Amino acid sequence: MTDHYTADARIKITDALKGYLADTAVVYYKTHAFHWNVEGPNFYSTHIMFEKFYTKLWKSLDDVAERIRTFGEKAPSNFIELLQNASIKETETSPVDHIMAKVLRDDYLLLAKNAREVGALAESFGDRVTTDLMTEKEMFLEKAAWMLQSTMS
Ligand SMILES: [Fe+2]
Repeated sequence: MTDHYTADARIKITDALKGYLADTAVVYYKTHAFHWNVEGPNFYSTHIMFEKFYTKLWKSLDDVAERIRTFGEKAPSNFIELLQNASIKETETSPVDHIMAKVLRDDYLLLAKNAREVGALAESFGDRVTTDLMTEKEMFLEKAAWMLQSTMS
């Protein structure tokens, strides 16, 4: 736990983290669903790449939810509560493999932007722990976006 922050800082940081958690959940499930549904001549490598990504995103959910708990706020208890803060759209279809890569690249870049914004907000309150956590997420997301981009070249 932490008692280092004002109530205002605690609410603003945890609200931002709840938004980030929701978007990560959307992107996590989309990546896992694409792992299941991908088809084509590059099936195996794409299937494995998506598995590496969703495993990281799953860990990210845990890190972010536990940071929310560290501030004394509750993590969302169900999907309805979780997803009400999401800004990234869920997938409605199962596209072909190169479209999957493009969709995930765009989502990861958006999530990296969200991580940057949450990190900057936390930094404005002197919360280096959340800022460091968000920097780590941003680094992974930008690297994953580069890998997806490389499969499309
Ligand atoms: Fe699997």
